[in-house]
Amino acid sequence: MEKVLVTGGTGYIGSHTVVELQNAGYEVIILDNLSNSTIESVTRIERITGVKPHFENIDCLDYVSMDRMFASYGNISAIIHFAASKAVGESVKKPIHYYRNNVNGLMNILELMPLHGVENIVFSSSCTVYGQPDVLPVNENAPTKPATSPYGNTKQICEEIIRDLVHSGESKIKSIVLRYFNPIGAHPSAEIGELPIGVPNNLVPYITQTAIGLREKLMVYGDDYDTPDGSCIRDYINVVDLAKAHVIAVNRMLNKKLDEDIEYFNIGTGKGMSVLELVNLFQKATGVELPYEIVGRRDGDIVKVWADPTKANKVLGWKAETSMEDTLKSAWEWEKKIHAKEGAAAKRARAREASKQ
Ligand code: NAD
Ligand code: UD1
Repeated sequence: MEKVLVTGGTGYIGSHTVVELQNAGYEVIILDNLSNSTIESVTRIERITGVKPHFENIDCLDYVSMDRMFASYGNISAIIHFAASKAVGESVKKPIHYYRNNVNGLMNILELMPLHGVENIVFSSSCTVYGQPDVLPVNENAPTKPATSPYGNTKQICEEIIRDLVHSGESKIKSIVLRYFNPIGAHPSAEIGELPIGVPNNLVPYITQTAIGLREKLMVYGDDYDTPDGSCIRDYINVVDLAKAHVIAVNRMLNKKLDEDIEYFNIGTGKGMSVLELVNLFQKATGVELPYEIVGRRDGDIVKVWADPTKANKVLGWKAETSMEDTLKSAWEWEKKIHAKEGAAAKRARAREASKQ
């Protein structure tokens, strides 16, 4: 069995990818420092697949422990590097943490790979590298734009580090860089999903937490943009579909099918959806009424972005398959599983407050 190391494998996208890798017959080693996930993911993955992945509680910044881990498993065929800090707002407040964690973590891995004979790495990048594209849908040849946050900058810097290393002529490392659009939803089993800490910044967790009662209402940031209904447009991609793209990327590297030593792919549906369209679809898909209010624009928001996924469709043979309706239902099933009690209690507390006034 080929071994794949998944850094950040107990996290949101990582855990879904581990499930798909195991379903495809890979032996998976998860490396995670549990800074933004819990060990429970490992049990939940086992419940879905019937196989318990290896788990190593190691920090990517800890070169010595990583070195030991590589040596003890031996023969790792490929790495999928998810481990990173990802909160845009926090990155503005703590830039050094973000540069250290995201950039140094990658550097350690890239330095250790040749020492342990590992040649293949899939890197988690983001459509954030395109900023507000001049042409939509955006394809992989579009220029990158100056990052609007330290987080976004780490993705650009990491892409550049990998590119320079691959092109150095001194390295056998090959890489597939996947630029995700907006991953949402949860596994259909509702065993794994997104676990935001504190108040969510992203749209779908905020919607599901509002629907369950944890938040009073959704704030829609702006309806006066240059879009058909005035709200911003994104390309929301089902997390299981996204996870499958990683398995295809690993297969492609192991079968030595790369056209170039570093390849870039947009992973999106190709369809843009506005905030208001998504809110309406959530209500239709779940039958739950969602209180919301239109408020002012959020600083730094991109107006509209959606992928041209033709390259991934043709070259990888990958395509987003799950409907947005099913994706939103899966997010809702997951929310009910994790927050039903807390949501009901928060609703009761609000009702008590309201009756006092
Ligand atoms: P996540 O926070 O759920 O998962 C990241 C995991 O990495 C967590 O389990 C965390 O504990 C771990 N981690 C962080 N720093 C680590 C370190 N130094 N050593 C070991 N483990 C560490 O995030 P996610 O949404 O699953 O994102 C995964 C990757 O995809 C990240 O690189 C993120 O930047 C990228 N990405 C995410 C999105 C998104 O919307 N979720 C969009 C584009 C790109
Ligand atoms: C954000 C990050 C981006 C990151 C992506 C996925 C910023 C500027 N960008 O992008 O770098 O890759 O998440 O993690 O933060 N919205 C509301 N109300 C809310 C929350 C969001 O109306 O409570 C709107 C936003 O204005 C936006 C859309 O919903 O138009 C999607 O927002 P979000 O989920 O935060 O994703 P991005 O802005 O695409």
